[in-house]
Amino acid sequence: MKKAVYPGSFDPITYGHIDIAKRALKVFDKLIIMITVNPNKTNALFSAEERIEMVRESMKECMDRIEITTCEVLTVTKTLELGSHHIVRGLRAVTDFEYEFQMTHANRVLAKKVDSIFFMTDNEYSFLSSNTVKEIAQFKGELKTFVPACVEEKLRQKFN
Ligand code: PNS
Repeated sequence: MKKAVYPGSFDPITYGHIDIAKRALKVFDKLIIMITVNPNKTNALFSAEERIEMVRESMKECMDRIEITTCEVLTVTKTLELGSHHIVRGLRAVTDFEYEFQMTHANRVLAKKVDSIFFMTDNEYSFLSSNTVKEIAQFKGELKTFVPACVEEKLRQKFN
């Protein structure tokens, strides 16, 4: 069984993440969505539990092939522990490249058995990020085209 890990902050999951996860599921039999606690992002809006719930609800039609987990160690360490050698990441635009390049090479030095695989988001999500979505929510903007209804509801609750 071909199994990949899709790590990220998912704070919160957006249609961009969902697009990448669905593309990965065309290549891999199973996808483990790994909600990583990034030490550089200390200002997370949602708890790990809330993020897990939003991922589960947003991906409900694919949950037979998806697992959700959290990670507080190195991504490659947990990837190997989970029995996978593949990390999935999304690329929106050329601006993502440098960060992903550095991360991929750092991960390769840490664990040379682990390879990173990149999927490009659909054009309509090429500008979309969790931070953009949070900012729109903060100023009570329209969220329907960016996140599923369950995420929109959670964002509204946070900013009300
Ligand atoms: O959604 P994000 O914030 O772009 O995801 C980045 C993430 C969490 C995948 C990355 O920062 C990460 O893997 N962090 C865990 C710590 C780690 O393994 N660092 C080594 C890679 S440079």
